[in-house]
Amino acid sequence: MPKHVAGKRGTARRRMSGPVASGAGTTKPKEKGPAVERESWWETAVIYQVYVRSFTDGDGDGIGDLAGVRSRLGYLRELGVDAIWFNPWYLSPMADGGYDIVDYHEIEPLFGSIEQAEQLIAEAHALGIRIVLDVVPNHGSDQEPWFGDALTSPSGSPERARYHFRPGRGANGELAPNDWESIFGGPAWTRTNGPEGQPGEWYLHLFAPEQPDYNWDNPEVRAHFDEVLRFWFDRGVDGFRIDSAALLVKEPRLVDLGASDWTRSPGGHPFVDRDGIHDVYRQWRRLADSYTGKRLLVGEVWLPEQPDRFARYLRPDELHAAFNFSLLGCAFEATALREVIETTLDSHVALGPWPTWVLSNHDVVRPVTRYGRCGTAFSMDDRRIGEASDLELGARRARAAALLTLSLPGAVYIYQGEELGLWEVEELPDELLEDPIWRRSGHTDRGRDGCRVPIPWTGQEAPFGFGPDGSTPWLPQPAQWKDFTVEAESADAGSMLELYRAALRLRRLEPAFRTRELRWLPARDGVLVYCRGTDLLVVANLSDQPIDLSRSGEVLLSSAPTQEAKLPVDCAAWLRLPAGRLRSDL
Ligand code: NOJ
Repeated sequence: MPKHVAGKRGTARRRMSGPVASGAGTTKPKEKGPAVERESWWETAVIYQVYVRSFTDGDGDGIGDLAGVRSRLGYLRELGVDAIWFNPWYLSPMADGGYDIVDYHEIEPLFGSIEQAEQLIAEAHALGIRIVLDVVPNHGSDQEPWFGDALTSPSGSPERARYHFRPGRGANGELAPNDWESIFGGPAWTRTNGPEGQPGEWYLHLFAPEQPDYNWDNPEVRAHFDEVLRFWFDRGVDGFRIDSAALLVKEPRLVDLGASDWTRSPGGHPFVDRDGIHDVYRQWRRLADSYTGKRLLVGEVWLPEQPDRFARYLRPDELHAAFNFSLLGCAFEATALREVIETTLDSHVALGPWPTWVLSNHDVVRPVTRYGRCGTAFSMDDRRIGEASDLELGARRARAAALLTLSLPGAVYIYQGEELGLWEVEELPDELLEDPIWRRSGHTDRGRDGCRVPIPWTGQEAPFGFGPDGSTPWLPQPAQWKDFTVEAESADAGSMLELYRAALRLRRLEPAFRTRELRWLPARDGVLVYCRGTDLLVVANLSDQPIDLSRSGEVLLSSAPTQEAKLPVDCAAWLRLPAGRLRSDL
């Protein structure tokens, strides 16, 4: 049972200097070309994900922080992103990388202060970059005052009603209340102790024991999160990414998963995608829309097999957007990719909201490693850490995947380091692994630390400008990253970084990329060809032969050099079609 130390970390709320206006954009360059109807900034935005702990360390303690992020805003501006999404930066004991939050009104001291957050928001806005924060409504932290109160209050008390406390089963309550399992491994229940140490009730945690689940039937929980959203909206943030967005509402009797009919009835799962969840998002939507300057709500909704259920989160009075993870899991194969793209576009057409596209994030194996393996599909249930990967091949494919992704209609999320072509660091020493999955899986799943290794910026040796010289990053960076620093890649026209910079530039300049249309053109097996607008052609060669582009138009950008107009295998290109030609000849 985790020890209760609520209040120890100082949860008093400090006031910031007050509400500020949302909305970046005043200093953005004017876009070239005819005016394109753009309802909301996020529809075609490029949103860059910053995992603060691993981005830049301003004070030399080995851990990234807000001072570090502020020093890199110029880099993000130059890269050409529209917004930054920050993983949680609030006060947290860091049992799960900050997804165990003690107080949303405080910045985690390892990262900085509320004043720095305020300055960061203002500085980003001045550069035309919007700010999206993470909100984690499914669970809190076992170090939170509310949870401490629950532990010291009797069974059935209002303090316990903010969470899911239940007596155990078995003669002496020694068995968990139901058969649910934690997403991080092991049971989803932990037993509490009474004041004299006698065993008591159990509480529910779909993730680590340090992350007790809130009871969303409790009005206090709802009011608490309304206040959290307001607190940050008042301070100018432009949106929230909603963590584990489909898990909040539980079946009221907490029935066994084994006894539920979840495989047969949509919405019948006892803790995933319950119908009651939509009331929460309707309320949040009203709240977000009551602010000026277009505030975004984007949900982390993992329902890959159920497009109809996914769509319900995007009804006109619910979320503005939801992460679409289908591309991320998809094998690097033409038929599979085409199917994912078509299904995504079809399912969004009727809905109104634009799709989102994600190749990586802080939870998944980096694309360069995934695409260099024999089987290129990815599943969260099996990260396959340590499996052989040809990183050169993986990088070539990741470059092609980047051009595909950045050419699709909708918003694109880029995870820090993706633009440098970093790979999963699979050889981290056991004793440095922090991800709770490592511990909870009984040391069978090495977890997600390999995609969270600090970013290399400059120089020939660690910490590669991540922190001051001589500082030791919280996870070791591979020595080979000397060739993958921002500095090294900026000096190399053929680097991944230069490819991303060029792609983001073109994406911003070409009006066709801001339309919803995508028209497939016939092509031979293993080749994907589609048109954006009337004059842009996107070609991806996943076949086993180079393809001839000489009659397909002018190459604007390609993921590898074309020789004699031949696009190599595992590469993609963007072309300008000659006027009036909607053919590809491929
Ligand atoms: C999803 C987040 O992306 C992940 O990092 C976290 O561990 C879980 N939700 C629990 O909050």
